[in-house]
Amino acid sequence: MTSLPSPNRQFKIPIRIIALIVLAVLTWFIVVSCGSTNAKQSHFTLQPDEISDYIFRIIKSERTIYGKYVVQRMKSENIVHASENWQQERALPLPAQMFRMTAELASENSPFSYGSMSPWSLNENNLPKTDFEKQAMQTVLDTGLPVKDYQIKDGKKYFTALYPDKAVAAACVDCHNNHPIHKQRYPDKVFQVGDVMGGILINLPLDQE
Ligand code: HEC
Repeated sequence: MTSLPSPNRQFKIPIRIIALIVLAVLTWFIVVSCGSTNAKQSHFTLQPDEISDYIFRIIKSERTIYGKYVVQRMKSENIVHASENWQQERALPLPAQMFRMTAELASENSPFSYGSMSPWSLNENNLPKTDFEKQAMQTVLDTGLPVKDYQIKDGKKYFTALYPDKAVAAACVDCHNNHPIHKQRYPDKVFQVGDVMGGILINLPLDQE
């Protein structure tokens, strides 16, 4: 007696095919969605100038808060003054010293660095030195806008940006205008609140370590 095909048998093949198609579609979907996640990640690459803009925002905020709410406020309320000899005098570090100490710590064991400069420097180490620095400083003073460029230093490639460093508090201009070195070297230069007093230079190393 020949056995009759079971009534379900005709449907078994299409079900397998459908299962295969579903599996293929699922695999394709997973592959495509993973690919697009990677693509999204690679779109999220920051350019050097965006990175230095973010770093500058942090530096500027820290400088503004320290100048306004620590140095200025403590001085106006006769609590404590800021002085170059802050360790001996039990005084606050100057904004420039605070800035340098944090910059030194941030660049420890790293080619990344930042610093401050001005053509009206009280400290000669803070004068613009290289041709790039001199030109960039002049452009920042003329335009009030940052200058950004690529540089090779000691055979290494850097993205360098110089941002305006403004007098964010009365304490900045009071101290600089009345400083004996300022009066002696730059008698005609009288800073006002809001003026560009110098520049903040950020060096981002671009070579892989
Ligand atoms: C109590 C005095 C004092 C105050 C307040 C002060 N500075 Fe200075 N600043 C100095 C001295 C002194 C130096 C040089 C010190 C050094 O580099 O060690 C200096 C350095 C600088 C420099 C680097 C160029 C230079 O003159 O050597 C800039 C730019 C600067 N200050 C801007 C500011 C700004 C902006 C503020 C306000 C947030 C400010 N300063 C507040 C005394 C002061």
